[in-house]
Amino acid sequence: MKATAIAPANIAFIKYWGRVDAALRIPSNPSISMNLSACTTTTTVEFSPGLKHDVISEGFDAARITAHLNRLRERAGSALFCRVETHNSFPASAGIASSASGFAALTVAAAAALGLRLSERELAAFARLGSGSACRSIPDGFVKWEGEYARSLYPPDWWDVRDIIVMVESTTKKVSSSEGHDKAATSPFFHKRLDALPRRIARLERALNEKNIQELGEVIEEECLDMHHVMQTQSPPLYYWTGETVNIMELVKKRTVPAYFTIDAGPNAHVICEGKDEARVVELLKGRTLIINKPAAGAHII
Ligand code: DP6
Repeated sequence: MKATAIAPANIAFIKYWGRVDAALRIPSNPSISMNLSACTTTTTVEFSPGLKHDVISEGFDAARITAHLNRLRERAGSALFCRVETHNSFPASAGIASSASGFAALTVAAAAALGLRLSERELAAFARLGSGSACRSIPDGFVKWEGEYARSLYPPDWWDVRDIIVMVESTTKKVSSSEGHDKAATSPFFHKRLDALPRRIARLERALNEKNIQELGEVIEEECLDMHHVMQTQSPPLYYWTGETVNIMELVKKRTVPAYFTIDAGPNAHVICEGKDEARVVELLKGRTLIINKPAAGAHII
């Protein structure tokens, strides 16, 4: 009746932006990501007959969490309520996608606590219903999400890369990505991006296979700019960058070290490089607050 799971956040190399079914969170395009070792959520779920409603830690979206628990209760044929305790390894206000690690950890912990024996595919599909990007935090390492499911392309030790997150202060209130997805198709560039994706995805998969950082870097920067272009031209437009985000993009673009940027739905810049160049990238970014991530395993019981 009680289980604890840990799940990583992930950085999207090919982004999920827009969906063909909003309620079921079926994405408009496949996406590819890497799990992050230093950005994790640990969640304990305990079902007990004594509870009259779900008890969820302060500061989390209780309605969205309860809706997700209902899906798992229904599958298990259980009417029990539970206590959910969640701890993020990164500050909640950090603008790191805590919904990915959060719903992945919640899914794995709640399924185990209910005695459900779900395959990785089923866990990813359930996590997706809580938050789309959460399905990529279920399998290990480098992950591809297509349609209902996500699967591992390569384990974490396939390639020693880093995601060095530069924490950027944001004064503007973040518009939730859920709302943003629903308006993505209002951008005149939405279909242009979708048309460009099959080739871009093939390039990224080749770069991962060949461990070619320059190829990977060029693809992720192109994809990041293309997705933000769509975001900025949809209606209403979404601007996630701050001046500091752009400063970091320009600094990285100088290519004094082999490092490349990508940005999700927030102001933080993610600087991607190989492990052997970590110290040089840290030096390049000195004076800023950094979170250094390696590729990580997916969600699991602890
Ligand atoms: C820009 O997974 O947060 O980070 O399904 O509504 O929870 P919901 O959206 P979410 O969207 C993430 C968007 C992104 C790109 C990505 O992670 O692929």
